[in-house]
Amino acid sequence: SWTTGNVIDEQVALIREQVGDRRAVCGLSGGVDSAVAAALVQKAIGSQLTCVYVDHGLMRKGETEQVEKDFVASTGVTLKVVDAEARFLDALAGVSDPEEKRKIIGREFIRVFEQAQAEIIADEGPEVAFLVQGTLYPDVVESGGGTGTANIKSHHNVGGLPEDLEFELIEPLRKLFKDEVRMVGQELGLPDEIVQRQPFPGPGLGIRIVGEVTKDRLDLLREADAIAREELTAAGLDRDIWQCPVVLLADVRSVGVQGDGRTYGHPIVLRPVSSEDAMTADWSRLPYEVLAKISTRITNEVADVNRVVLDVTSKPPGTIEWE
Ligand code: XMP
Repeated sequence: SWTTGNVIDEQVALIREQVGDRRAVCGLSGGVDSAVAAALVQKAIGSQLTCVYVDHGLMRKGETEQVEKDFVASTGVTLKVVDAEARFLDALAGVSDPEEKRKIIGREFIRVFEQAQAEIIADEGPEVAFLVQGTLYPDVVESGGGTGTANIKSHHNVGGLPEDLEFELIEPLRKLFKDEVRMVGQELGLPDEIVQRQPFPGPGLGIRIVGEVTKDRLDLLREADAIAREELTAAGLDRDIWQCPVVLLADVRSVGVQGDGRTYGHPIVLRPVSSEDAMTADWSRLPYEVLAKISTRITNEVADVNRVVLDVTSKPPGTIEWE
């Protein structure tokens, strides 16, 4: 019968057999899937695994620290952190178009990650032959991979490395659904903040700033987002909502009155949604008191924000994210 214990034992045995005395690399995104995949592989092969975390500077408040400290503490994993904030901000300078932002972030991410891989290979030797990925069952089905029992999917050709080194993929979550991944993560001793984390897009806050992405705007949005998350958690609403993007309309200003006088600041949008799978979503009917608290705190505590608005659009027609 299906138990998280069985899944873990089975995968640990498989991974050990596959990897032997070679080595593996795993990219951590801060999300549930890569964290659980890494923890599982760590349990199987210990120090033969090196994790890489690319800090693109687009994470929410406290999330990078969560990976650097809490994840490492709970798994004992070897972690290489690449501080790439300046590089991402340079690449994003002057760009407002959502698709262009996504392309730039994706491109830079691959470049930085591959460079980190190359450095690990230079340090550890060419026996680094495996790349761990947190692919889930729905991803497998979506990409036409069927229900194969293989745990290694295909070869992943990593460009830019000596002789275009080929990695074999380790995908230990290939047969699991999201809720099962969370259970496995819990069983492996990962902290709740990681295991129960709501979805967060790969391009991070870069696609929650409508307009150009700058350090100041990111810092501002991080503060507003942290307040919203804090209040939603305090109100016990984390399990009721699917996710709540907090969006900065950086290209919009409106007149307000705060303290001694007139302000001309930016609006923050709250986008709480309920959903089963993110394909469709409904806007969450949050209690007015919670919305009021979030609004008051954001306008009081975040400089340059003088208005908080609520997105009451379902998906379709609106997507969950604004970009
Ligand atoms: P949309 O905005 O398309 O989002 O309704 C659906 C779900 O996907 C997340 N999302 C992303 N996740 N990389 C990701 O890993 C992305 O580029 C990306 N874009 C959107 C979004 O947060 C929501 O859960």
